[in-house]
Amino acid sequence: MKENMGKLRRTHMCGTLRMENKGQEVILMGWVQKRRNLGSLIFADLRDTTGITQVVFDEDVSKESFEKAGKIRSEYVIAIRGKIEERQSKNPDLPTGDIEVFVQELRILDEAETPPIYIKDDDDVSEAMKLKYRYLDLRKPSMQNKLKIRHKTAKIIRDFFDKNGFVEIETPVLTKPTPEGARDYLVPSRVNAGKFYALPQSPQLLKQLLMVSGMDRYYQIVKCFRDEDLRANRQPEFTQLDMEMSFVDIEDVLEINEKLIQKIFRELKGIEVELPIKRMTYREAMDRFGSDKPDLRFGFELKNISNIVENSDFKVFSGTVKNGGDIRGININGYADEFSRKDISKLEEYVKTYGAKGLAWIKIGQDEISSPIAKFLKEEELKAIIERLNGKPGDLLLFVADKPAVVYDSLGHLRIEIAKKLGLLDKNKFEFVWITEFPLFEYDEEERRFVAKHHPFTHPMDEDIELLETAPENVRAKAYDLAINGDEICGGSIRINNSQLQQKMFKALGFTMEEAWDKFGFLLEAFKYGVPPHGGVAYGLGRLIMLLTGSDNIRDVIAFPKTQSATCLMTEAPTKVCNEQLEELYIDIITKEDK
Ligand code: AMO
Ligand code: AMP
Repeated sequence: MKENMGKLRRTHMCGTLRMENKGQEVILMGWVQKRRNLGSLIFADLRDTTGITQVVFDEDVSKESFEKAGKIRSEYVIAIRGKIEERQSKNPDLPTGDIEVFVQELRILDEAETPPIYIKDDDDVSEAMKLKYRYLDLRKPSMQNKLKIRHKTAKIIRDFFDKNGFVEIETPVLTKPTPEGARDYLVPSRVNAGKFYALPQSPQLLKQLLMVSGMDRYYQIVKCFRDEDLRANRQPEFTQLDMEMSFVDIEDVLEINEKLIQKIFRELKGIEVELPIKRMTYREAMDRFGSDKPDLRFGFELKNISNIVENSDFKVFSGTVKNGGDIRGININGYADEFSRKDISKLEEYVKTYGAKGLAWIKIGQDEISSPIAKFLKEEELKAIIERLNGKPGDLLLFVADKPAVVYDSLGHLRIEIAKKLGLLDKNKFEFVWITEFPLFEYDEEERRFVAKHHPFTHPMDEDIELLETAPENVRAKAYDLAINGDEICGGSIRINNSQLQQKMFKALGFTMEEAWDKFGFLLEAFKYGVPPHGGVAYGLGRLIMLLTGSDNIRDVIAFPKTQSATCLMTEAPTKVCNEQLEELYIDIITKEDK
């Protein structure tokens, strides 16, 4: 049985009713969360986007409604007209728990089959089912709340930039490859046979052109596309808050962005972020935390012990130093008793996934020291190591000896893994840090050349420009990232606005000018005609919302996300297309075997 709304027009939302509404006649519409039949009374929880109200079908109030109510099931869509009464047995867990609505009129607006997934939080439904039936999963208040926080964040962002003289400008989605360095998503052009658009990995070059055009201050909440390995905080299509400003240097960009961060955390979390946000150079972040996005909610900092053990009889250590490597350790201070030998073996397996060859350890007891490497070390070496790590009874010291990159990566991840195990990653604590002075280049072992760590338009630190030709590995960039709780929330840089410097940069990257013109000619052409000094950043909006909502996966803060393998289980995209469509695009599909 299905009915229409007839003359009924909704007067209130389900989550808004309180004792002060007692006695009022209301019309509510929504979904039936659950129904309980108690003989002469039928109770139902009626749900809409604002919450739940208990409605009561009483034979004595409306016999017709009572009889109809016998037919309603979970997730039926209904409209009711009724009177608000004080509840006999109040429900303190529900904001509307003091009242209930006695129904005078019921209309069943739509029936529902039994949903394939539960519409409640503490379910054990598989992620795949939730993604296939995303619209049902999104019926859960917890999911809707995340989308609402996302909306509020976007609104704060827009208000903030508007107040500060920024203009939101849309940039094209069908465009040319951009310089972020992930794989592009390509779109074939029907009218230009054999040619392809690339979906933007970011609006980087276009926002720079908006600075050339004199727009002065730009921002945009914009979709970006990157075909790369997906992780908990990475989607193939994701949203950036992108911004750029003219006539600025590093401090100006950081200052306005930290004000925005302060406003967002104040308004959405009631947390007062102290400004200026801490700044830490890339070098310091790597040396202390083994990461360029350090989580500062806990300690366990890295300490270098290379100079203590460079001549040690323990060949694993001395040999590493001779080969140009390092030995660093972390002190899991006060937690030695939490880790058995078996636990430490598991940690060793963990660091091996980051390329480490082993994990040496020293456990400091009240009276004795236990360590598989103690027997290889002289007493004064052992003492000096413990001193360097500030070791005290009850501490566990863990060491990796390897190439610096492996040491940083393995210990950087290990300190987080251990903090996670020890329950030290408090989701209600937020630690903000700007990481500055990134290297301008990194060496690409595969391509055997330097590549831009950020992108080729990043300005070198003024004092390092002269090193571009002689020691590119030592050039630092005017690039910065904001890390919050160990996640890279945004990143950006001051850009090159001088064509001679840009040419030097391309040379250092091993591009000929022809190659540079082929890729970015439109930008280089524009740069002939007067470019203001400019710079900006882009935030991963989804990552910021993850923090604000305490979500562990970026999928939770996106209405219709994709899986780890970049598919949409709900729409079943991507799909095959018919031959006619392919022919129109002059595209032939070759199978993997043909390749
Ligand atoms: P970058 O490449 O660092 O910089 O990207 C900016 C921010 O976007 C987020 N992010 C992602 N979020 C979800 N899924 C992904 N696949 C993904 N990739 C990146 C990160 C990152 O910090 N044009 C430059 C910015 C600039 O220089 O102004 C850029 O895109 O949070
Ligand atoms: P071995 O003599 O190889 O049995 O190693 C003795 C201890 O040193 C073990 O606890 C290993 O885990 C550790 N170890 C071996 N190689 C390394 C390394 N590269 N870095 C840190 N510890 C290591």
